[in-house]
Amino acid sequence: MIIAIDGPTASGKGTISKELAKHFALPFLDTGLLYRAVGWTVRENGTDADNPADALAACNFDSALLGDPALRSEAVGGLASRVSVHPEVRSALHKRQIDFAYQPGGAVLDGRDIGTVIAPDADVKLFVTASADARALRRFGEMKKRGELVNFSDILADIRKRDERDQSRATAPLKPAEDADLLDTTDLTIGDAILQAIALVNAKISRRTDK
Ligand code: DC
Repeated sequence: MIIAIDGPTASGKGTISKELAKHFALPFLDTGLLYRAVGWTVRENGTDADNPADALAACNFDSALLGDPALRSEAVGGLASRVSVHPEVRSALHKRQIDFAYQPGGAVLDGRDIGTVIAPDADVKLFVTASADARALRRFGEMKKRGELVNFSDILADIRKRDERDQSRATAPLKPAEDADLLDTTDLTIGDAILQAIALVNAKISRRTDK
């Protein structure tokens, strides 16, 4: 079974995907990490994230980098969003994601274009979203907890900018697949969001076996 999870930053999709993978005993790939590794490498190389050739050159990063917590920072998230605009980068990362999705037994993948481009025939597609304010508030709380000096309106502005870039790019923009189930987590605790996601997957599976 392939489960495709898409949605904007801080929607809860990462936690939901990990929990679904655990619940259904499937391997999990956070595809955002691949773009983050490219963004991080561009910065290490001292090159330009907005230049397609520089971004493409950063795609042959060492796989060990994917485990580096430095990839999780807001700054690297912004760089990831910038390099992800280039079709060259998206094609360079394509095979790795397809191979993961179509491995025997299936997988859970989360990202922006899993249900639309990477695995359009996934068994289950969820589009996880939440209002920009709710997402900024979550991000604000996480960063404050880590002791980072943060300003709510800067975080909200960053989230809006990232949404706008991810949704408006020409190649594989962030949008729900036509057959995706929507899960709005604005007013849900993360625990309730996970339970709803599991219920949506189970409903989809039982509809398929009824046919
Ligand atoms: O999910 P994330 O915040 O780690 O993703 C970082 C950026 O990577 C995101 O803003 C856009 C890009 N991305 C993408 O274009 N396609 C994906 N499948 C995953 C992430």
